Amino acid sequence: MAGQYYIETYGCQMNLADSQLVAGLLNDSGFARTDDMAAAQIILLNTCAIREKAEETVLNRLDALAHLKRKDPSVLIGVLGCMAQNLADSLLESHPFVDIILGPDSYRRLPQMLAQRTQEMDHIVDTRLSRHEVYEDLFPARETGLNAWISIMRGCDKFCTFCVVPYTRGRERSRSLESVVAEAAQAVADGFVEMTLLGQNVNSYHHEGSRFPQLLEAVAGVDGVRRIRFTSPHPSDVDADMLRVMAAQENICSSVHLPLQAGADRTLRRMQRTYTRAEYLKLVDRIRAALPDVGLTTDIIVGFPGETEADFEETLEVMEQVRFDSAFMFKYSLRPGTKAANYSSHVDEQEKQRRLEAVIAMQKESTLMRNRALTGQVAEVLVERESKKSPLQWAGRTDSNKLVVFDREDALLGDFVQVKIDGSHGVTLQGHIVNTVESYHAVA
Ligand code: SAH
Ligand code: SF4
Ligand code: F3S
Repeated sequence: MAGQYYIETYGCQMNLADSQLVAGLLNDSGFARTDDMAAAQIILLNTCAIREKAEETVLNRLDALAHLKRKDPSVLIGVLGCMAQNLADSLLESHPFVDIILGPDSYRRLPQMLAQRTQEMDHIVDTRLSRHEVYEDLFPARETGLNAWISIMRGCDKFCTFCVVPYTRGRERSRSLESVVAEAAQAVADGFVEMTLLGQNVNSYHHEGSRFPQLLEAVAGVDGVRRIRFTSPHPSDVDADMLRVMAAQENICSSVHLPLQAGADRTLRRMQRTYTRAEYLKLVDRIRAALPDVGLTTDIIVGFPGETEADFEETLEVMEQVRFDSAFMFKYSLRPGTKAANYSSHVDEQEKQRRLEAVIAMQKESTLMRNRALTGQVAEVLVERESKKSPLQWAGRTDSNKLVVFDREDALLGDFVQVKIDGSHGVTLQGHIVNTVESYHAVA
């Protein structure tokens, strides 16, 4: 069979990249993508299992799809990604109308499975994890834009005690340096100017003697690559080489996402984060010494099992000391099957909420402080999209990954412009163009 398919993506950038991979596979097999769910014969949800809420969102979405299946039983509904991996059996019990369940290492088989499906197989389920699959030879079908996601490694071997990713994504494995470089060159030829290298632990990349710093350097050397970003690095895998390469290569953006999770050593140890508060703070100093204008962002979890008020205060202290540019902040969510699920002294919901509000308030103060420090400075910004507030304004990011909104003037999408920062509106920087540096109009 061939026909039209529709994909909806939840979760992190790895999932966005995986959806493009699935789209590439399906396009090559004669299927066509549609953005109109009602017109599709195959509806795929690429899902996330990181927190209970993420799973609930998808379950609600599936409930809402039940009527489509009743109306036209030939429509195929598929669940891909981390939740498929995590919940395969219980998903089929709660949503028996789901036809396809494929974990993140099984996408290669999708076209063939869809072909077999014409022979009226019942459910298609494959959640085997692989030690080798990196989809090395496949080309993602990217949507137009300026940023190309390039997945360089998959899986995670860190086993932080709160986290489901090692179970949903399996063991760490990396692509060859040559294949990543070739993909970056192809992305440039297709009109992309920014590459974001992706992995659950992007900087633990290693393939036949090449490590993350060498890979960064190689991608930086690809003609036409104007900006390189990467996410998500693990603090324990940041080394002097990585910082040296970042400082030396102008096209590697000066921004580091450095998930802290918690400030107290007691909590960090029980999370199995492999660094102490002091080591983390020292690392921040090293990063700022190597990259003076660096944008630093983080992830915080509040209410980890056993986190006392005093432990929590330490998270606030570290946040106050570092003054991150921005942060993703979460209430701990119990993930069945992880080590922390069996820990005692779970923090009650109300208390988690209070702690969450406290870290949000602390972060807001830091973001405003960091923004104020930029006022009056001129920064290079890539014009990425229309501002959400006004069609007369553009929005784009600085090298340090801060979003700036400014009047359009003559600038076009894809231009690099010099923007003078005038101040901020809430947490968003506002500025005005003082000069256009370069234009990339390959992407309209
Ligand atoms: N590999 C990345 C994180 C990927 S998950 C890293 O280690 O940095 C993104 C973020 O989700 C994590 O950094 C963590 O802050 C949060 N997270 C993961 N599991 C969670 C859980 N069970 N409850 C709440 N937040 C969680
Ligand atoms: Fe999860 Fe920790 Fe791996 Fe990040 S490093 S994906 S938080 S187990
Ligand atoms: Fe979610 Fe899987 Fe990413 S659990 S955060 S989609 S790796």
